[in-house]
Amino acid sequence: MDGPSDFPKADPAEIPSAPPAAVTGTLYGVGMGPGDPDYLTVRAVRVLERAHHLVHFCKAGKRGNARTIADAVVHDAAREWPLPYPYTTELHPEDPAYVAALAAFYDEAADDLAAVLAAGRDVAILSEGDPFFYGSFMHLWRRLKDRFPVEVVPGVTGMSGCWTRANTPITWGDDVLTVLPATLPHATLVARLKTTDAAVVMKLGRHLPKVRAALAEAGLIDRAVYVERGTMAGESVTPLGQKPDDAAPYFSMVLVPGEGRRP
Ligand SMILES: C[S@@+](CC[C@H](N)C(=O)[O-])C[C@H]1O[C@@H](n2cnc3c(N)ncnc32)[C@H](O)[C@@H]1O
Repeated sequence: MDGPSDFPKADPAEIPSAPPAAVTGTLYGVGMGPGDPDYLTVRAVRVLERAHHLVHFCKAGKRGNARTIADAVVHDAAREWPLPYPYTTELHPEDPAYVAALAAFYDEAADDLAAVLAAGRDVAILSEGDPFFYGSFMHLWRRLKDRFPVEVVPGVTGMSGCWTRANTPITWGDDVLTVLPATLPHATLVARLKTTDAAVVMKLGRHLPKVRAALAEAGLIDRAVYVERGTMAGESVTPLGQKPDDAAPYFSMVLVPGEGRRP
């Protein structure tokens, strides 16, 4: 596989024509950053300009956020390939029906992508933040990585965008940072929060009341900062203790900045 510096320059005239059938396409996982397209990497832009297919996960009938970020770079719709999830929040992630539906969804999507990769076409899977950090891309990567060349383009994570916009360093000196999905049970959240110096709590949704209670029990509520839509339109940053309600959209997280060594 070519290294990043060998990647050919974009030539829009070449995009529709596939290379000879014996050459397979490359699967790209493209980190799209936290929301503001200014945080796309140069490498991500090059891949977005060049790939034959731009795949993005979405809710049925809606555009995925990763695809919206790409609007800054991609001006033709012909290469778009939406992958609507069968479910998003309708079923519990451990419900066997949800697990089976998601597995079938990823199997089918991987089969469809394998067909175009085998025909020599490059496929870019647009991933919010970084593709290897809680990214849906990983489920396709797992199914395709042994059959096709793969390149993952790292991205600025959502949490990095959030602590930047909150204007708060997250770790100092020897601080230990713990990243927690809010979906964990209350007792697990408390135990993890009690033994860390700094924390990021993601995937808040309807779990914000539980997260508040766990932070209070761990003695961290006064340090907690709530960030909604970090770096995107509609961004807000609020000390969690001053947030009057428990509404938390998909793009939201709580930061607990560390207070380690500061000479
Ligand atoms: C499935 S994870 C994907 C993480 C992503 N791959 C990354 O590198 O940030 C989705 C969660 O990331 C967090 N998130 C990502 N970007 C965010 C942003 N710009 N503002 C607030 N939260 C964000 C939210 O907690 C959201 O529920």
